[in-house]
Amino acid sequence: MHTPAPKDPSLPAKFVLACVLCQSEFPAALMYRCPECAGALEPRYALTGMVRHDHPDPEQVYFDLLPLTSRDFLDSGVTVRTPCRPAPRLGEAIGVPGLWIKDESQQPTRTTKDRLASLVTAVLRQFGVKEFVGSSTGNSSTALARAVRMDPTMQAWFFCGKDFVANHDIPDDSRTVLTVVDGSYVDATAEARRYAAAEDIHLDAGFFNWARREGLKLAYLEAFDAMDRTPDVVVQAVSSGMGMLAAHKGAREYLAMGELSHMPAFLMVQEESCAPAARGWQEGRTELSDVHRIENPRGLATAILLGDGAPYYRYLHSIAADTGGAIVSAARPDLVTARRMLSELEGIDVCYASAAAIAGVRDRAAAGLIRPDETVLVNLTGRSRMVDGL
Ligand SMILES: Cc1ncc(COP(=O)(O)O)c(C=O)c1O
Ligand SMILES: [Zn+2]
Repeated sequence: MHTPAPKDPSLPAKFVLACVLCQSEFPAALMYRCPECAGALEPRYALTGMVRHDHPDPEQVYFDLLPLTSRDFLDSGVTVRTPCRPAPRLGEAIGVPGLWIKDESQQPTRTTKDRLASLVTAVLRQFGVKEFVGSSTGNSSTALARAVRMDPTMQAWFFCGKDFVANHDIPDDSRTVLTVVDGSYVDATAEARRYAAAEDIHLDAGFFNWARREGLKLAYLEAFDAMDRTPDVVVQAVSSGMGMLAAHKGAREYLAMGELSHMPAFLMVQEESCAPAARGWQEGRTELSDVHRIENPRGLATAILLGDGAPYYRYLHSIAADTGGAIVSAARPDLVTARRMLSELEGIDVCYASAAAIAGVRDRAAAGLIRPDETVLVNLTGRSRMVDGL
């Protein structure tokens, strides 16, 4: 990274919030949607004089690129740095010799969601918020619950659909309460919203919470730093797609700072049985409508079974379109095969959501849409906390 340069003392704050859609800028605040157009907001920094700091906690290493004005808002040990390495055996087997894998399954709760938990709790502390309501298909809430328990002054209320209870690992603790809703993830989110409004408690904004995305971004900054070249394609399994927005944000920042030589193409993968965004992409749409909604999503990749992609799709579409990427789906048997290949050839056992990302690369390479000379970075976003075998 660049040599440390003195920070501009006249800068009133470390970051502003900018609208991803209309580019309006606002002072830093606990606000998630653009007041002008309701678009997603993201923190933006003056990208000069940024340095990596030597520290065991990833958030301290990349502190300069985080929306925090003081290191004291961060708890230590919420996340760890994870390995990113070439995967030549799997790469050869699927026609992508330049395959690299980032193993986020080594995070404390076994998924990359610890990254978001770390930043969400730190940003809430920064704005003096000690209690919040949230919902997820399991991994985000599990990670958030762990981060909340690390701060004795915090309290959180989580909601989940009944089919997703097994994906949650939230100890029965008065400071982390899980309420099961008779319905899907979408119903649980609606119930969380009602509860937060009725009790006047801060509602976590999910995809629209820029703190989540800034935390997830660190997996990618670490990966870019570990690689000896800029990836041509970056791949992740998508549910709401906040991980991909995070990846794209990290790539934009590293490109502006001269840390990447070019913008990679972003490849987003869903499971065929629940792939509203992949369907919209295939149909050439820039927005999803009701016909794309899946009422009771089923599938192997439980972490990414989100039936309503409409609020997020336009952001994913523009990243895929702008970078020469794509939004695709992978079939159930291909998830099983990809998971087995990863285990046998690279010795890593991941969940089916992560396996979907590998299956997506395999399909694209077989179709000639990823060339054998391209460098492909796959974020293996997690492993199963349950025993669900191969
Ligand atoms: C293991 C895993 N991979 C990928 C995702 C994708 O999430 P998103 O697209 O919302 O970032 C999730 C979300 O819960 C997940 O748990
Ligand atoms: Zn806007």
